[in-house]
Formats: sequence, C-alpha cells, structure tokens
Amino acid sequence: MWPVRVCTLMFILVAGAGTVLAQHEFTPADIEAGRQQYANTCQRCHGPDGDLIKDADIGHGKFRRGSTDDDLARIIRNGIEGTPMAETNISAPNALTIVAYLRSMATAAGTIASGDAARGKTIFEGKGGCTSCHRVLGNGSRVGPDLSQIGGARRTLELQRSLVDPDAEIVPANRTLKVVTRDGATVTGRLLNQDSFTLQLLDSREQLRSFSKSNLREFSFVANSTMPSYKDKLSSQELADVVSYLASLKGL
Ligand code: HEC
Ligand code: HEC
Repeated sequence: MWPVRVCTLMFILVAGAGTVLAQHEFTPADIEAGRQQYANTCQRCHGPDGDLIKDADIGHGKFRRGSTDDDLARIIRNGIEGTPMAETNISAPNALTIVAYLRSMATAAGTIASGDAARGKTIFEGKGGCTSCHRVLGNGSRVGPDLSQIGGARRTLELQRSLVDPDAEIVPANRTLKVVTRDGATVTGRLLNQDSFTLQLLDSREQLRSFSKSNLREFSFVANSTMPSYKDKLSSQELADVVSYLASLKGL
C-alpha cells in the first residue's frame, strides 16, 4: 500500500516544482558547453565569477530582470536595450546551456568560504612564501606565472583549487619543461621561446638558459606542477584569505 503513496507524493513534488519555477533540467555536458560560451562571450564584461558589473551580479543566482531559465535565456539572446549588453545570435538551446552554467556558478559560490584580502596579501608575501615563485605588479619572482591579473582570468573556485591541488589543472602556458643535456645535466624551467633549432627557458633560479636542441638528449613537459600544495600548510581561514587576495588582483 505505502509505495503507492510515496509515488503519489513524489509526483506532486516534481509537478509542483515544475509549475512554480518552470525550470529545465541540465546535465553536466550542458554546464560544460555553457562554461565555454560564457568564457568566450560573457566573461570580458561580467568577469570569471559573474560579479564584475556591480549592479548586475549574475554569478550568485539573483537577477533583477528575470528569474526563470527561460527569462534569462531570452535576455541572453535579445540583450538589454539601452545598455552595453547587446543582442546576440546565440541559439535558444545554446542560451539555455549558458543559463545552466550561471546556475552552477551560483551553487559553487555558496560553497566558497569568505576571506579577507588584506590578510591574504600578508600571507602571500610572508608565511606563504608565494613571492619566491610569483610576481604581482612588479614584486616577486618570475619562476612561476605572474599573478597581477589572475583575479580577472580565473574563477574563485579555480584559484582555491590551484592552492590545494596544483596538479588538478595546469594551463598549457604554465607547464614546466625539463631538458636533459647530452652530458646528462637536467634543467627545469618555464619555456619562454623555441624554434626548430633552439629553446630558451627560465630556470628555477630565474636565470635565462638557451639550448641548442641538437645538444639535448631529451626535452619534455613535466606532468606535475612544481608548486607545492598548501592544503596542509595553511589553515582553511588562511587559504580563504589568500584566495580572496588573488580574486582581487584584476590588473590595472
Ligand atoms: C559588452 C558587455 C557585456 C557582455 C559581452 C555581456 N553582458 Fe550581460 N550585461 C551587461 C551589462 C552592462 C548589464 C546590466 C544592464 C542593466 O541592467 O543595466 C548586463 C546584464 C545582464 C543580465 C541581467 C542581470 C540581472 O540582474 O537581471 C544577464 C542575465 C546577463 N547580463 C547575462 C549575460 C550573458 C550570459 C552574457 C554572455 C552571453 C552577457 N551577459 C554578455 C554587459 C554585458
Ligand atoms: C616553488 C614555486 C611556487 C610557489 C612557492 C608557489 N607557486 Fe603558485 N605556481 C607555481 C608554478 C610553476 C605554477 C604553474 C603551474 C601550475 O599551474 O601549477 C603555479 C601556479 C599558480 C596558480 C595558477 C595560475 C594560473 O594561471 O591558473 C596560482 C593561482 C598560484 N600558483 C598561486 C600561488 C600562491 C597563492 C602561492 C603561495 C601560497 C603559490 N602559488 C606558491 C609555482 C609556485
């Protein structure tokens, strides 16, 4: 007897959600498709976390101009008259995948601990030792990538992951190259330049090194990051502070 009642109850819940919100169901593939379109067309104005335009924070699930998925898809396609947000030729199904991504951003934003950027800067330059590899606005080392504009390029979620799990995702430009010379010496560093015959890299002591490829036994990218994980080196509050500092670095 009672399984029937469970079914009825579930039906009412599902139908209820459907009529009140008229929402769509999204798959991880929809979200991923939306993420790519967002990065290509929306990020330059709205920023990686969707919160760059003060009066139109689209990364935290609260919208002034619509609420349902279909409202938002319509805004994305039609633009907003009299504002910099222009009409686009994005198809209706593609607009819905962008909505899927906006919804996922809001969910992710809810899981991020809030930090203090000023405290984060102190940790970055002090106990974190980040400036021994990274440079911010001319201060620090060139061994790792320059982070002066990292907050304009990466989501808070990605910054957090870079600190606790540096191997999870390494953007191609940031990979470490390892070369072994004919006489067996190994040098690792950041690839700056290469042509058919030579390659130049910046080694771990910030020295520019140039090699003739014919003198190398091998050269290849290292799979793992040379950056240590800070998962156990900083407390969760300190991590949140550093992430908050990084997110504030949007260049000049
Ligand atoms: C040229 C800059 C620009 C681009 C590109 C842009 N937008 Fe906007 N968008 C704005 C501005 C400015 C507003 C605020 C308009 C207003 O309400 O006055 C806005 C508003 C919005 C709103 C309404 C926010 C609300 O509170 O209801 C949504 C949703 C939105 N944008 C999504 C997107 C998406 C998704 C993309 C990419 C397909 C995109 N925008 C591309 C500038 C831009
Ligand atoms: C031993 C050198 C070293 C130290 C110390 C170091 N990093 Fe890194 N970091 C790197 C290298 C190399 C990369 C590029 C490879 C990668 O993405 O893991 C990197 C990547 C990053 C990225 C991702 C950049 C991107 O473009 O996505 C962030 C963010 C970052 N580091 C922040 C920090 C912070 C904050 C600290 C201090 C708490 C720190 N790093 C300490 C070497 C270092």
